[in-house]
Amino acid sequence: MSIATTDTSAGGETSAGIADVDHVRFPDGFKWGAATAAYQIEGAAGEDGRRPSIWDTFARTPGNVFRGHTGDVACDHYHRYREDVGLMTKLELGTYRFSVAWPRIKPDGTGPVNPRGLDFYDRLVDELLGAGIDPMITLYHWDLPQALEDGGGWTQRSTAYAFADLAAATVARLGDRVRSWTTLNEPWCAAFLGYASGEHAPGRREPRASFEAVHHLLLGHGLAAQALRSGGAAEVSVTLNPTQVRPADPGDQHDLAAAKLIDGLQNRLFLDPVLRGAYPEDMLPLFDRFGAAAAIHDGDTALMQQPIEFLGVNYYMPALVRAQVGTPPNAAYPGSEGIEFTEQPVPVTAMGWPVDPTGLSDLLVRISSDYPGVPMMITENGAAYVDVVEGDRVADRDRIAYLDGHLRAVHAALTAGADLRGYLAWSLLDNYEWGHGYGQRFGLIHVDYDTQRRVLKDSAHWYAEVIRHNGLT
Ligand code: GCO
Repeated sequence: MSIATTDTSAGGETSAGIADVDHVRFPDGFKWGAATAAYQIEGAAGEDGRRPSIWDTFARTPGNVFRGHTGDVACDHYHRYREDVGLMTKLELGTYRFSVAWPRIKPDGTGPVNPRGLDFYDRLVDELLGAGIDPMITLYHWDLPQALEDGGGWTQRSTAYAFADLAAATVARLGDRVRSWTTLNEPWCAAFLGYASGEHAPGRREPRASFEAVHHLLLGHGLAAQALRSGGAAEVSVTLNPTQVRPADPGDQHDLAAAKLIDGLQNRLFLDPVLRGAYPEDMLPLFDRFGAAAAIHDGDTALMQQPIEFLGVNYYMPALVRAQVGTPPNAAYPGSEGIEFTEQPVPVTAMGWPVDPTGLSDLLVRISSDYPGVPMMITENGAAYVDVVEGDRVADRDRIAYLDGHLRAVHAALTAGADLRGYLAWSLLDNYEWGHGYGQRFGLIHVDYDTQRRVLKDSAHWYAEVIRHNGLT
């Protein structure tokens, strides 16, 4: 494919103009909601037949997670889901995106279904529907059953087939009430942070394994999408975490080549198979170089391109890169030697992530021009800041500014012709932020982890107004 669109927008010339006006309205029927993930909020790690996932193992291994935090209790959502759905109604959410824990449903990854695991999601779905909230289920948000990892995890082809079985079992139980199904959340993270940089579970640092994982995750997407469809799913999607990758100097051939490689690894390696049924030509040599080419069988990439109702886009920040001879590879981007990720001249969140809404508008416009005809939904967007609770209040102005800026960016992309169907904030609740444990808070709702008391932050009240008005007032 051509990267021309990226290259031009990279120069900043085509940034869809972000409105700085008072009234920003979204189309009728635009969906509003919030998202969470199983391991990040549920807790109840050993209850009702759930067995360990790779995240339980990883979190319990000293040195992997901030202060040794685990998801054993998290937000105790497993026991407090009724209260949490009650809070969602205060936010006036129309859609709630959550993930199911594979190790609850099939505790050892394969084999018989654990009915008590599915019972929980059954109760949650009924509670949501009773509150007038549409459930949107993600099948894989990174909590692979440890038993599967013991057999090689996502480096194994059989894991893709086991995932399709999980999809079939879950849609068989919940498909009568749940319309919208997402196969994977951010396979880039699962593959490269899990198997290349080792920042995420299972914590492996093997480039070969990471490319095998990319392939089997995408194969798993294809197989699970088929299983969902034959199980009657009305809406099938996959959520990626693409980002706008910009060259430091758009006039420099080396910087452009650097941006193209990172764009390949972060974006096209996933977008192309899912939306075009083939890997990008410039990515195939990396499978060879790292010894993972044998994982690709005839017909696999065609199978990865299943009909989807929309593409889920998780967006947090853009990337800025430059060619710099002698730079060692970034561990999360195997093959990226000679490329430096450079600082961006914008404010950062508590995670140190650059705040730049033009990255989102440019990205959405770019995807819709390079992959036309695919509706999109923002399935995550949000920011961590240091929050202070004062009585019943958290005055999180920075988070409101972040959300406001990014909603204007979504609106600008809509105006520029991108087909966007909705926006889900990350996250409903403060929760377990992976390697950062409970040290980073992304929630619209504050959680006191000692008492499990929930407090709606100012951003939650602000977001409820946005939803009520279908826009920014
Ligand atoms: C992701 C995950 C979330 C994270 C969020 C903030 O997109 O990385 O889906 O689980 O918590 O992105 O890092």
